[in-house]
This record gives sequence, C-alpha cells and structure tokens, in this order.
Amino acid sequence: LQTPLTSTVANNKKTDKEPRVTHPKTDEQRQRLQEACRDILLFKNLDPEEMSQVLDAMFEKFCTEGEHIIDQDDDGDNFYVIESGTFNIFVKVDGTEKLVGCYDNRGSFGELALMYNTPRAATIIATSPGALWCLDRLTFRRIIVKNNAKKRKLYEAFIETLPLLTSLEMSERMKVVDVLSTRVYSDLQQIIAQGDLADCFYIVESGQVRITMKRSRTKTDQEEEEVEIATCSRGQYFGELALVTNKPRAASAYAVGSVKCLVMDVQAFERLLGPCMDIMKRNIANYEEQLVTLFGSSPEIEQQTA
Ligand code: CMP
Ligand code: CMP
Repeated sequence: LQTPLTSTVANNKKTDKEPRVTHPKTDEQRQRLQEACRDILLFKNLDPEEMSQVLDAMFEKFCTEGEHIIDQDDDGDNFYVIESGTFNIFVKVDGTEKLVGCYDNRGSFGELALMYNTPRAATIIATSPGALWCLDRLTFRRIIVKNNAKKRKLYEAFIETLPLLTSLEMSERMKVVDVLSTRVYSDLQQIIAQGDLADCFYIVESGQVRITMKRSRTKTDQEEEEVEIATCSRGQYFGELALVTNKPRAASAYAVGSVKCLVMDVQAFERLLGPCMDIMKRNIANYEEQLVTLFGSSPEIEQQTA
C-alpha cells in the first residue's frame, strides 16, 4: 500500500505516550474524508478527540477495477472506509470462493482481523475504480479496540437480556456488542422511512419507537394514510425485515419522546445473526397476523416473504 511521503509518526506527550500517526490532508481531502466517515458505525461512539486522531491517521488509496483490496487468510494491515466504488465480498466455503455480498459506494470493511487478531475472514475485490480511506492497524487497535472494551462493559448486561440473541454463544454476543453503535433520536424523528433501501438493523435501548405503514384508505383511493401498526420498547428490535427479504423497508419508524437505539450494519447482521434467524422468522409470521387483524389482509408481507 502507498503511504504518502509526508506522513509522520509523532510522539504526543500531552495525552499518551503512544506514537500518533498523522497523514496531512488538503481541506478538500479532509472534507471528503469526513463525509465518507459520517455514517461509519465503528466511529459513532468515539469522543471528538478520538475521532480527530482517527481522521488525522487516515490516508487515501485509489483502486482499480479487479484489484484485490483484501485476500482472505492474509494478516490485517488496514481498516477501510469506502469513499467511492463498488466491491464484492467473497468467503471460501469448502475451498471454493462464494460471493456473499457487496458494498456500493458506502460502508467499511477490514475491521475483523484488526479487532480479533485473526487472519482476514473474506476477500474484497473492487468491481469498479474506487477510492478508499485507510486506517492503519496500530491506530485502529489503539482507539477502536480500546473503545470496544468500554462498550462491552457498558452493554454486556443489556445484551444478555435480549431474547433475540439467546441462540448465540456468549463470545458471539460480545462480537455483536463490538459492531453495535448507538444512535439517539428526538421526539417524532423518523428512524426508518417506508420504501427506502435498507442497510441497518436496530435494537431499542431506551424510549419507544412507533412503527407505521402507509395504506390507501379504500381500494380505489389514491391518497394514503399512515397507520400505526406496532410499538417497540427497550430490548425489542426492528428493521430486520428488509434485510431478511432484501426488499425496501416495509414500514416507517418514528421516535416517541427521546429514543436511543443500538444499530448494526447489514454485513454484521448477516455475519453474526444467522443463528437468530428462526426467532426473527417466527416474528415476521406474526407481522402478517398483525396486518390481517388491522387491515383484513397483508399483501405487502405476503409478497415479501413469498
Ligand atoms: P476482515 O476479516 O479484517 O477482512 C475481510 C473483511 O470483509 C472483514 O474483516 C469484514 O469487514 C468484511 N466482511 C463482509 N462480509 C463478511 C462476511 N460475511 N464474513 C467475513 N467478513 C466479511
Ligand atoms: P423493515 O421492513 O426493515 O423496516 C420497517 C420495520 O417495521 C420492519 O422491518 C419490522 O421490523 C417492523 N415491523 C413491525 N411490525 C411490522 C409489520 N406488521 N409489518 C412489517 N413490518 C413491521
């Protein structure tokens, strides 16, 4: 990987003794970097000082179509945040590479080998020219891994109470904590919009979430009304349906009062929550009943799970 010649490793005596990596950036680069990092879940729980150290340490890498950014089983060097480009994810199953997903101009990858000191768990290949922001292993471990230790302490007890995660081993539940980030919403704020493409899954930590669905008032009526179909409170989850069905969001979600949610991205959802799928599917079957009770039929869900 190219490292700009201007990069420095400085000793910062004010906050800690560990070396700090700084890759100088133009204003334009820093702005693009901030934009690319805005929705990265692993960065959400960092305090402003930690975030600024992460941004200082990141450096840009351009890639070409077909380039292997990561090869499964290699050692981990960097964590990557996507600025642009599309990438395929392959995982070896019984010796053959299987396409398990892709990234489309957003998201991040390469955290697992750095978090758990394990070989790379997947191969990532660019399927277009692209631009990535890279964070070196040492800075990642110093800041993100340390932050994860705090997160585990904070959420361990709560995670243990979630019925959804009972099929997971303790170590798997801790991996769930590692990938979760918190998001706070104010009263009436929209969390999910019906019809949007989906890229994350939510668990309510505090407050109430109102789930609503748009329905035509009559069969011939063009106007739609938004009807409340459920509420979720502490320990309950939502936003799984679109990830399971690969369809747009089936309903909207709004905060009632102030709400705190734990959020997980689709890749982590697929990688970690496989064993919880039975519970989720049983619950999805309940959605149909719920809609039949409310509306007399549930065409949306029937189409989605067909
Ligand atoms: P890492 O193991 O460091 O390098 C490969 C990356 O691919 C991995 O971190 C994850 O960020 C990402 N990835 C995406 N989907 C998967 C998956 N299903 N299994 C393993 N890794 C995945
Ligand atoms: P998703 O479709 O991803 O986004 C909206 C969420 O609302 C959906 O996932 C479910 O988690 C949740 N939900 C709750 N009740 C229902 C229901 N009856 N039909 C569809 N979605 C529901």
